[in-house]
Amino acid sequence: MHRTDRLLIEPIDRTHAEGLFAALDDPRVGEHIGGPDVTTIEALRERIDHLAAGPRPEWPEDRWLNWVVRRAEDGVIIGRLEATTYPDGWAEVAYVFGPAYWGQGYAGEGARWMIEHLRGELGLGDLWAAVHPDNAASVRLLERLGFEARTPPPRRPLGSYDDVDLVFELPA
Ligand SMILES: CC(C)(COP(=O)(O)OP(=O)(O)OC[C@H]1O[C@@H](n2cnc3c(N)ncnc32)[C@H](O)[C@@H]1OP(=O)(O)O)[C@@H](O)C(=O)NCCC(=O)NCCS
Repeated sequence: MHRTDRLLIEPIDRTHAEGLFAALDDPRVGEHIGGPDVTTIEALRERIDHLAAGPRPEWPEDRWLNWVVRRAEDGVIIGRLEATTYPDGWAEVAYVFGPAYWGQGYAGEGARWMIEHLRGELGLGDLWAAVHPDNAASVRLLERLGFEARTPPPRRPLGSYDDVDLVFELPA
């Protein structure tokens, strides 16, 4: 379990499914990420199991890191953070929070912790994110975190990259 000023952050597991579903079961969550993040609690449990299983054997050195984020004051699950790390020392990051908790700096606080963890604990270098151009809150958030816009196609082979996306790098 990791702590920031207002958040508790822990590796995701299937016991988080109900709380995470309650936070993310809202059509606004999927607006810019290609559809709903979750459809049912059972589907979310399966997805969490899939994430825990990690990348396919073809990519044994890649790592999937997923955390659930709670509000420290009451323990309520408010969102999740994810990173895929690659063997030559870089990572791709993303975050999904429930609309009830938007606009209070929680995603920024969680993402700052994740960046520090990836850099400090895991020794990773450049970090990347791909974002739909209409996703103004995510673009703003990345800029606040110090990410810089890069001209697609990205220098790194981002798994989450779609042709229309904007690409951001936080240089090492
Ligand atoms: C993107 C997301 C994580 C932001 O969460 P959040 O907790 O509201 O983020 P924060 O409060 O830390 O910061 C959001 C910033 O965007 C700004 N913002 C919010 N809505 C905005 C909008 N419609 N247009 C422009 N800026 C906006 C906020 O003012 C804030 O900037 P500020 O710190 O300068 O005031 C959240 O909207 C989300 O989960 N969306 C659905 C999933 C998603 O799209 N994930 C990103 C995939 S790339």
